[in-house]
Amino acid sequence: MMKNRKHRHIAVFTSGGDSPGMNAALYGIVKKAEQSGIRLSGIRKGYEGLIDGDLVPLDAHKLQKMVHRGGTLLKTARSKRFLTLEGRQRALENLQKNDIDALIAIGGDGTFKGLLAFSEICDIPFIGIPGTIDNDISGTDYTLGFDSAVNTAIENIDKIRDTAESHNRVFIVEVMGRDSGYIAVHSGLGTGADAILIPESGQDFVQLIKRASNYDREDAFIVIVSEGDELGAEIAASKIKELNPDVDLRITKLGHVQRGGNPSATDRMLGIRLGVVAVETLLLGRKNTMVGILNNQLCLTPFDQVVKQHQVNDELQELLKIFGN
Ligand code: F6P
Repeated sequence: MMKNRKHRHIAVFTSGGDSPGMNAALYGIVKKAEQSGIRLSGIRKGYEGLIDGDLVPLDAHKLQKMVHRGGTLLKTARSKRFLTLEGRQRALENLQKNDIDALIAIGGDGTFKGLLAFSEICDIPFIGIPGTIDNDISGTDYTLGFDSAVNTAIENIDKIRDTAESHNRVFIVEVMGRDSGYIAVHSGLGTGADAILIPESGQDFVQLIKRASNYDREDAFIVIVSEGDELGAEIAASKIKELNPDVDLRITKLGHVQRGGNPSATDRMLGIRLGVVAVETLLLGRKNTMVGILNNQLCLTPFDQVVKQHQVNDELQELLKIFGN
């Protein structure tokens, strides 16, 4: 049984790409810190704010009214300066100057890599919350924001279907996910897409291109392409056109709309749960650990095992084959 550890001043920041549910996680953290009598500060703009000492008090009442809002109250950034030892040293000086004795970070794999590097020069405990729409972090079934991003993608692909069917067109829709096909698989299957291209699987492109170029002219043909897929939307389009120049084809890139918008009910709840458990984990004396959710149970994974390798699993890849991919 681990001893309860008393922290006097915890700081929290959001980092990397924002994801819907980050404000809910901040709300969970602020409420649990309040209940435990711990001082809590927010750091603005991720690692950039850590380097610049950009600290702000966090207001529980304000966050209560932001649980339903996308984005992040604390703002976020991708920091090049934190990649340097000099940047990390300045960040450490700021933590010491402000008597911060524990840190919670909400972000994706880049954020966790940053924490791992920081732990080499700084021995205060860190806890991570997986927040990224990409769902590409191991140690958790779902990252914060993924469910909302999929819902946004689905809503938009449904709209594209209306126009695609009216014109009997081929549509290639690119969704986000960097090197991970999770958003593509979930949004593609959920919208009845005709083909789904993801980075993880060795798909038969020739077959796909043939199917798209010979599609039924009284219908639409919708292809979902993950942005990290090796073929890519433009090349897929030009290959289809090469085979059949008469194909009426359009490309739509959903882009950053997938990152914004109100978090889904699932992400609101996940954010609150992960926020609360992050503070509890610190109080248990744990350090350099990510909180996550596996089989709907909250769980802990050491940072060095949180690597970016959570790829679309075999079960989902088999599922894709049933649906003609
Ligand atoms: O990591 C989230 C994500 O939205 C990825 O899906 C995408 O590749 C990337 O961020 C885009 O980053 P940025 O907003 O910095 O262009």
